[in-house]
Amino acid sequence: MRKPFVAGNWKMNTDSRSSVELAQGVAKGASGLAGEKVTVAVIPPFVYLQSVVNAVRSTGVAVGAQDLYIESKGAFTGEISPAMLKDVGCNYVLCGHSERRHVLGESDEFVGKKVTAAIGGGLLPILCVGELLSERDGGQTEAVVARNLKTGLAGLGTDKMSAVTIAYEPVWAIGTGRTATPQQAQEVHEFIRGLMADMFGKKLAEETRILYGGSANAGNAKELMSQKDVDGLLVGGASLKVDDFVKMIQASA
Ligand code: PGA
Repeated sequence: MRKPFVAGNWKMNTDSRSSVELAQGVAKGASGLAGEKVTVAVIPPFVYLQSVVNAVRSTGVAVGAQDLYIESKGAFTGEISPAMLKDVGCNYVLCGHSERRHVLGESDEFVGKKVTAAIGGGLLPILCVGELLSERDGGQTEAVVARNLKTGLAGLGTDKMSAVTIAYEPVWAIGTGRTATPQQAQEVHEFIRGLMADMFGKKLAEETRILYGGSANAGNAKELMSQKDVDGLLVGGASLKVDDFVKMIQASA
């Protein structure tokens, strides 16, 4: 049985005060569920990681980072290493979020190095994959997702794969209010699970959690989660509102 996983990606939002309030609100609202029935993670901006870790300590809510760098230390101005994330109490880290790929220009190869660096540093990577609208319209969805996945996981053995979560986030659905239908999500999730089975074997594929992301909200969470291969939600906008995010955690339980 795959435990449902709901993660809130705060992106470049909140401040020192509201980040702690939001984290505390989530921990309170999800108490009894977080860490038990549902894996819950909040993913604040780097500068608020430490205070958010302190705010959710012993509550069952985990903390993730939005990105990381592939080297362990040195002259990489502005970058953050896996060890630094671990040091402040982070467990999860997003790798290859669509905004990193399409706004900041990260390649599949670079994202793959991030996944490997995350695991090497004792973190649990959430590898984000997904197609642009033009790619979907051009019938390229499976090809793009397969490339994201194969390059993103290149070099990982089955032994390392248990650390990895996949997030399918169609780029056209992110922040647009245009959610994939539950059927569209299920189709791609099933495709991803099949690919994982080819790459790492059926058992690993059955154990890997595949999250959906892209305008998921309190109103559509239950229907998305009712799909066989949708194991959780990676939530942007709706994770900034305590009540909405808690409803989504409850809907996933
Ligand atoms: P959204 O973002 O829920 O605001 O569409 C999802 C994401 O980018 O992870």
